[in-house]
Amino acid sequence: MSTVSIRDVAELAGVSVGTVSNVLNRPDLVSPATRDRVQAAIADLGFIRNESARQLRAGQSRTLGLVVLDVANPFFTDVARGVEDTASAAGLAVILCNSDEKSSKEDAYLELLEEQRVKGILITPADGISTRLEHLRRRGTAVVLLDRRSTRRDQCSVSVDDALGGDLAVSHLIDYGHRRVAFVGGPLGISQVADRLRGAKAAMERAGTGVDDLTVLMTTGLNVSAGRSAASELNALPRGSRPTAVFCANDLLALGVLQELTRQSVRVPQDVAIVGYDDIDFAAAAAVPLSSVSQPRHQLGRTAAELLIEETTQGSRHRHQQVVFQPELVVRESSSLRRRAVRRPS
Ligand code: RIB
Repeated sequence: MSTVSIRDVAELAGVSVGTVSNVLNRPDLVSPATRDRVQAAIADLGFIRNESARQLRAGQSRTLGLVVLDVANPFFTDVARGVEDTASAAGLAVILCNSDEKSSKEDAYLELLEEQRVKGILITPADGISTRLEHLRRRGTAVVLLDRRSTRRDQCSVSVDDALGGDLAVSHLIDYGHRRVAFVGGPLGISQVADRLRGAKAAMERAGTGVDDLTVLMTTGLNVSAGRSAASELNALPRGSRPTAVFCANDLLALGVLQELTRQSVRVPQDVAIVGYDDIDFAAAAAVPLSSVSQPRHQLGRTAAELLIEETTQGSRHRHQQVVFQPELVVRESSSLRRRAVRRPS
């Protein structure tokens, strides 16, 4: 990190600090000869401007904060791509923060973003709306909820109808003859997960007496490892009451379930059908291509960034919006087998 200061440059070039600042920010105000002398001093000393300090002094920043739940989840990679494409087109940089689905880590990042005086924050909250996030908004930092629907009209948000997504997934499994279905996902503090479970239950209830209750296998995370553990739990259930289909709260869980069932010689979809959520690229590329509820990932990111930029540039002319996209079920091999109707003993 350069320890050369703007004063060192001014001294070497024989000009004032103000002249060096003009060469950096308003070169049109400086004569070509002086400009060349200052540029030569900058090159000789290896001076690197402190853009953050400059933006802080100017009270305006050219950075956005993006706080995601799990940077290792391709869902957020695709969303972040949508954010970055939009931000860079507007001349803005993005500070990517990974909360690891932990409120404590999210809070630490929010504090850092406040210190950086970011222009605005896009966030998928690890739980509810934290006190610090509320505090940032009150202090005038624009915040857009990403992948979470705002319950307030004075707060922008971009999300997907996750209850409908859960309903689509389980309705499909019921339509294909499954009567015992499992839900794999958690923690329910992540409202997307809770909404997907709510939709799954609605589909089971609508099917009526023809189906058993939904078997809920709670997980402590939304990753491949948690999916493997849930598959072991599922396979250890008594054969007579073991679900023949699994709806997972996201594709990483579904990939873990597929991996573990395959390892235990359980055939997918012949013995157990699987449906995931997000439709990340790895879903279609899996050893048994995964059925999944598709989310418009890049569009989620792009729309959220557009709302944030509009809020920070249009001030009182900005109208807050709660944009909700519709999910779409993509059926692939992992749930494409129709089960024969099993006669129930009379
Ligand atoms: O982060 C957990 C999940 O919620 C992601 O996989 C994605 O589905 C998001 O909506």
